[in-house]
Amino acid sequence: MNAESASSEGPAFLRAISGETLPVPPVWLMRQAGRYLPEYRETRAKAGSFLSLCYDPVLAAEVTLQPIRRFGFDAAILFSDILVVPQALGQKLWFVEGEGPRLEPVADAGRLAQIDMQADEDKLAPIIETVRRVRAALPRSTGFIGFCGAPWTVATYMVAGRGTPDQGPARALFASDPDLFQAIVDRIVASSIAYLNAQIAAGVDAVQIFDSWAGVLTPDDFRRWCIAPTKRIVEGVRAAHPQVRIIGFPRGAGALIPDYVRGTSVDAVSLETEIDRDFVRSEIQSLVPVQGHLDPQLLRAGGPELEREVEAILAAFAGAPFIFNLGHGILPDTPIAHVERLLKAIRG
Ligand code: CP3
Repeated sequence: MNAESASSEGPAFLRAISGETLPVPPVWLMRQAGRYLPEYRETRAKAGSFLSLCYDPVLAAEVTLQPIRRFGFDAAILFSDILVVPQALGQKLWFVEGEGPRLEPVADAGRLAQIDMQADEDKLAPIIETVRRVRAALPRSTGFIGFCGAPWTVATYMVAGRGTPDQGPARALFASDPDLFQAIVDRIVASSIAYLNAQIAAGVDAVQIFDSWAGVLTPDDFRRWCIAPTKRIVEGVRAAHPQVRIIGFPRGAGALIPDYVRGTSVDAVSLETEIDRDFVRSEIQSLVPVQGHLDPQLLRAGGPELEREVEAILAAFAGAPFIFNLGHGILPDTPIAHVERLLKAIRG
């Protein structure tokens, strides 16, 4: 982050994440570049597949910018996926249309031996080129967010080879062979530090660490597999880029979020929909700026319920440093008119 963006002159997103309370909170939406936008569907069809889109810097920059042009969100998020890191570690990755990601599972020492110690930078180079292109095209008033998956969440996909309802395969592996699981986590930590540092060097202002499956762990496992590895990533990024802002998203961690904030020293935390707002105000927003936490289902449904919930979120959080967002990614069948209504409700 440059000096200008830390001052009251900089992008609203960076001011809020740096601890300023703004009269109108900045807003962006997780998965804001996605299938609910016709222009995204068109560019994705041109690319042929989701992964070809991720690795095409011209088209990936285009879809990153589409929601900024259409809605004027306060921040853009790099278009990519958390699973490009395992792919750069040598694991086979593909997406099944209408279902989701598939990887060749790593669940024993033989498979782990085929996984590199550190991600191949050449494989991630097109994504870093996307960052440069977006930075060059982005208005100066718009923040730019890079990201990676947190080691726990990435490991759940690496071990199971796909998304699972309860992350059972990864939990079974750390219970039966914690050293093997730690070795997987160590590779993700080292690769994520290098990958985030490359994104920052290429122009992102902030990074978000997505831990989508943090909510299934016991408190002890949460400390070991979420907080500890995330802390190492935060330290590795800060060592190279002390000024950059880091947002953690331990989705579903609820009452453990204050421990997460203290244990990782992230600059801000993104909140799931299900969390209690009084708890957030007294135990989390008193520590760091918060981001979130509108229910994506409500945004899809629209109507007076949506307006009431937006009001309630603003009433609870906008009196302190806050960034409006969803509690999880926007749903593909969300009407564009509802996003427009949301922005009107926030910005007046
Ligand atoms: O927020 C953004 O707009 C930035 C881009 C982004 C994507 N994935 C694009 C994407 C980000 C930050 C992610 C993170 C991601 N990817 C997470 C963590 C956040 C979360 O949602 O919990 C996870 C778990 C993944 C892995 C992943 N990628 C899954 C499980 C799926 C399939 C589900 C789905 O929505 O189809 C993806 C695919 C994916 N990643 C899409 C997009 C826009 C849809 C691909 C398409 O166009 O068909």
